[in-house]
Amino acid sequence: MQKYEELMKECISLAKKGVGSTSPNPMVGCVVLDKNDNIIAKGYHHKYGENHAERDALLKIKDGSDRGGTLIVNLEPCSHFGKTPPCADLIIERGIKKVVIGCRDNNPKVNGGGIRKLQEAGIEVVVGVLEDECRKLNEVFFMDIEKNRIFVALKTATTLDGKIATSNGDSKWITSEISRAKAKEIRQYYDAILTSSSTVIADNPYMNHKLKIILDREFKTKFNSNIYASGNIILVVGDGVSLDNRDIPDNVTILPCSVKNNKFELNILLPLLYGKGIKSLFVEAGGVLEGSFIKYGYADKIYQFVAPKILNDNSGKSCFDGDNILKMADSKVFKIVSTEMTGDDLLLVYSPNY
Ligand SMILES: NC(=O)c1ccc[n+]([C@@H]2O[C@H](COP(=O)([O-])OP(=O)(O)OC[C@H]3O[C@@H](n4cnc5c(N)ncnc54)[C@H](OP(=O)(O)O)[C@@H]3O)[C@@H](O)[C@H]2O)c1
Repeated sequence: MQKYEELMKECISLAKKGVGSTSPNPMVGCVVLDKNDNIIAKGYHHKYGENHAERDALLKIKDGSDRGGTLIVNLEPCSHFGKTPPCADLIIERGIKKVVIGCRDNNPKVNGGGIRKLQEAGIEVVVGVLEDECRKLNEVFFMDIEKNRIFVALKTATTLDGKIATSNGDSKWITSEISRAKAKEIRQYYDAILTSSSTVIADNPYMNHKLKIILDREFKTKFNSNIYASGNIILVVGDGVSLDNRDIPDNVTILPCSVKNNKFELNILLPLLYGKGIKSLFVEAGGVLEGSFIKYGYADKIYQFVAPKILNDNSGKSCFDGDNILKMADSKVFKIVSTEMTGDDLLLVYSPNY
């Protein structure tokens, strides 16, 4: 089993090579052993619509050395025709004797069907090696197929006393270059970045990503701001906002959304974005917007970079604004998923425990 855990870790790192390109498909990696347990091929799912990891690996083997061998993969092989033929069929065809799987694919089109097909062909199937890690790798995919909703991750960079800017909005820089580079790397795991007009106006950030969503209820941002210089932009404006006299650049799509109490209603906005095929968001904004995601229970994961600094000023901006809560028992409870030093800063990753 120990041996398979090592190989499953290899599958997970191979899978991550597809980051940013596989959505809405999961990230999958695969290792193939010959009958003497030597590694003979590795593969991964490069891009949505292209070969799945098992096919990518098996097609590299031309000499039949996979006959009688073992295939390790982080997700159950598919049993249905999608953009490519079923991987289970190719595994059977190749005479693989044993398949080691990280976790089941709960996609209704698969859902144990791949495992059954392999077993019916007389293949030994082991399921659940590093299951938690394998599910975590594809948490966005599982949210999509199991709960049919968008996955929301928040990112914030704070001082030790939870501040993201001084009272006059100065925020450059709280964390180190290493932390900022790490945040850019994490962005790629999500379909889109979401930010606010306030942050665009205060910081004029670039936020490089193929898809950026700006919440701009009153259409206050200017198209010559850095954020508009690259990628596709969805500009969410309040219902009924006038678009008169504004030349909309080619990379910008306007999305009107309903507003209540001068705020977009997240319970309407999020399904609207999900309906456009956006499966995950990486929110990079200030405390007002991020606090709203927490208040209404939409934060599935939080990345908090903490710099070893104390602003020591009550009027500094906090990372998560909220209401006047009088009982500690009413706080939202999270569980810490991981911690990591990024230069001199600490990256805390946590998820709701409610
Ligand atoms: N350290 C960090 O990680 C970090 C990251 C980003 C920004 N910042 C700093 O944060 C500051 C800006 O933060 P901020 O708190 O003023 O702004 P924010 O949280 O980025 O955005 C708040 C604005 O979003 C809009 N909004 C629309 N729907 C909303 C909803 N449902 N809930 C809440 N807000 C909604 C509202 O603007 P409208 O009224 O215009 O609709 C609201 O004023 C800047 O100083 C920036 O430097 C820090």
